[in-house]
Amino acid sequence: MMGDFTIDQLTIPATLNGPGGADFIRSVEVGNEVEAIGYGTADVTYEPDEELPIFSNPHEPKHVLVARVGGGIVARALCETTLGDDADTAWLTTEVLPEFRRRGIGTALADAVENMALADGKSKAIVYSPVAEGPGPRMDSPTGYGSIRADDPSVTFLTGRGYRLEQIERLSRLPLPIAGLDGLVVAAEERCGPEYRLHYWVGRTPERWREGIAHLGTRMSTDAPTAGLEEPEDIWTAERVKESDDRAERMSPRRRITAAVEHLPTGELAGFTILSVPQQQHRAVDQYATLVLKEHRGHALGMLLKVGNLAHLERVKPGHPSIMTFNAEENRHMLDVNEAVGFVPVASEGGWRKDLR
Ligand SMILES: CC(C)(COP(=O)(O)OP(=O)(O)OC[C@H]1O[C@@H](n2cnc3c(N)ncnc32)[C@H](O)[C@@H]1OP(=O)(O)O)[C@@H](O)C(=O)NCCC(=O)NCCS
Repeated sequence: MMGDFTIDQLTIPATLNGPGGADFIRSVEVGNEVEAIGYGTADVTYEPDEELPIFSNPHEPKHVLVARVGGGIVARALCETTLGDDADTAWLTTEVLPEFRRRGIGTALADAVENMALADGKSKAIVYSPVAEGPGPRMDSPTGYGSIRADDPSVTFLTGRGYRLEQIERLSRLPLPIAGLDGLVVAAEERCGPEYRLHYWVGRTPERWREGIAHLGTRMSTDAPTAGLEEPEDIWTAERVKESDDRAERMSPRRRITAAVEHLPTGELAGFTILSVPQQQHRAVDQYATLVLKEHRGHALGMLLKVGNLAHLERVKPGHPSIMTFNAEENRHMLDVNEAVGFVPVASEGGWRKDLR
């Protein structure tokens, strides 16, 4: 018991209807409510049935703590890690409902998840935190790209806990549908020349491409700019791709729409992009990874992949209102492609780091 609140750890439930399901659902709702304020939109929130498979992923263990007042959950904190020998990083989140702030709940939860990370042998914490726009003083990113409101509670809170702002991410929205999409795909195919060919699939990765997707997945963790956050390498294997696909098929109501580009002379994949589509047509689609391998850059493959997969989405899951995507503010190549397609900025998120030992 601390003050008028208590803290406990949730067990990730096997199903939402079974033991622990109601608490898990409520913890997701609390997180979603806080995030909708920070992003100024609920378009990036995942429902409990979409979160459960993500929280059940053995490659990315997650601990959930909640704070209760009068028995009801009013705040949550997450400690997320990855497996692997050089896995030195924990990704932490602390979210308190607005009406329960400034009474020490955030501090108690953040202390607890930092201690969990330390007990897990992690030496570094990374926190991504949305910042609602507004007037007033700004805090600039040390990368030179982007700024956030300096008097946001997250800034005061995290600075006070010894975190450094390292990077700013931009959340952007693309309204759908896009006029003249098929023409854009033809133009992109002409620009990249005869050595490259697009492949498309929904859901499971075809066996033929599992190795290639694993390689791209690993490179995604090292090749996307992460500034002073120094996000660690996350190694994918064909087996992990299969296991991840199987879990998604079994548990997730969302569908993955993939486009990948083959380099015909070598038969290898040069890049990929994935959209994650919710079941409900009125909800936004989420952009997952997009990557072109370094040795294949300069052939306009980023644009080819993006417009190719947008056309693929139109064919297999039409009617969604928009696509949401996160990009580092300094990632000009990716932002150029996205802006050319029609993405517009809607919110900012700070990327913070603390060395725990
Ligand atoms: C940041 C957040 C977790 C703080 O939760 P909280 O329960 O209010 O935190 P605490 O009561 O323990 O506050 C600790 C200190 O942070 C600072 N702080 C927190 N909110 C502040 C605010 N609105 N203005 C100024 N300082 C603030 C203060 O120094 C405060 O100490 P004090 O109350 O003794 O002055 C909460 O505002 C929140 O959920 N925000 C949205 C999500 C987020 O940004 N999370 C942080 C990154 S994961």
